[in-house]
Amino acid sequence: MIQQVELTQKVLQYVRDVSIRDTDFLKDLREETANLAEGTMQVSPEQGQFIHLVTKMMVAKRTLEIGIFTGYSTLCTALALPEDGKIMACDCNQKWVSIAQRYWRRAKVDHKIDVVLGDAKASLQNMINVPGNNGSFDLAFIDADKMSYDHYYEACLKLIRKGGLILFDNTLWSGYVADPDVSDPETVSLKKINSKVLNDNRVDISMLPFSDGVTMALKR
Ligand SMILES: C[S@@+](CC[C@H](N)C(=O)[O-])C[C@H]1O[C@@H](n2cnc3c(N)ncnc32)[C@H](O)[C@@H]1O
Repeated sequence: MIQQVELTQKVLQYVRDVSIRDTDFLKDLREETANLAEGTMQVSPEQGQFIHLVTKMMVAKRTLEIGIFTGYSTLCTALALPEDGKIMACDCNQKWVSIAQRYWRRAKVDHKIDVVLGDAKASLQNMINVPGNNGSFDLAFIDADKMSYDHYYEACLKLIRKGGLILFDNTLWSGYVADPDVSDPETVSLKKINSKVLNDNRVDISMLPFSDGVTMALKR
């Protein structure tokens, strides 16, 4: 039988104890977000650190963030970018983005982040329309509304370079995607994107069963 550790709370705590490199501002942002009714939308600390590492592995300079919320994943990315690196970060909720901006300033990375407020589908289309943008991004993190994942995927495939990486969050969707009887629109949308990337010869893929599921798609 293939070995697979069951991720109990105890094991997850151990993972955090032995691998999370924290700072006061990351801790404070997690705490402030946890007090919001929508707090569970935030990526996990280990996911944030994973995104940080991947940004460095990609030697990324230009990245896309689709779904800022209170800015944790954006912050983890920004901390991994060089001084002249830039994130084009999309969200439609100014209230949450204001929280994010406070922490980006505190971490002294706000100059690396351009917020694009509004519906992310329109924002991405505007970026695609700017000459020179297509094929110029190194990395994209897709974590906004689940119904639009296919749209975001196609837009990101235009905007990232060959060898650029797209990360999708929530591709396990609390395990609902594995249940043939679950057919609400968000679950169906995620099931569709999972089978689409599996059969998409434009990318190489890996689906990581950690946090709520993270799929990596590397543009060929
Ligand atoms: C899961 S949260 C993002 C979490 C974030 N990555 C983090 O690390 O905390 C999803 C975000 O997507 C935004 N969003 C949802 N639908 C959107 C849309 N159509 N256009 C732009 N942003 C959208 C929401 O406002 C919310 O802030």
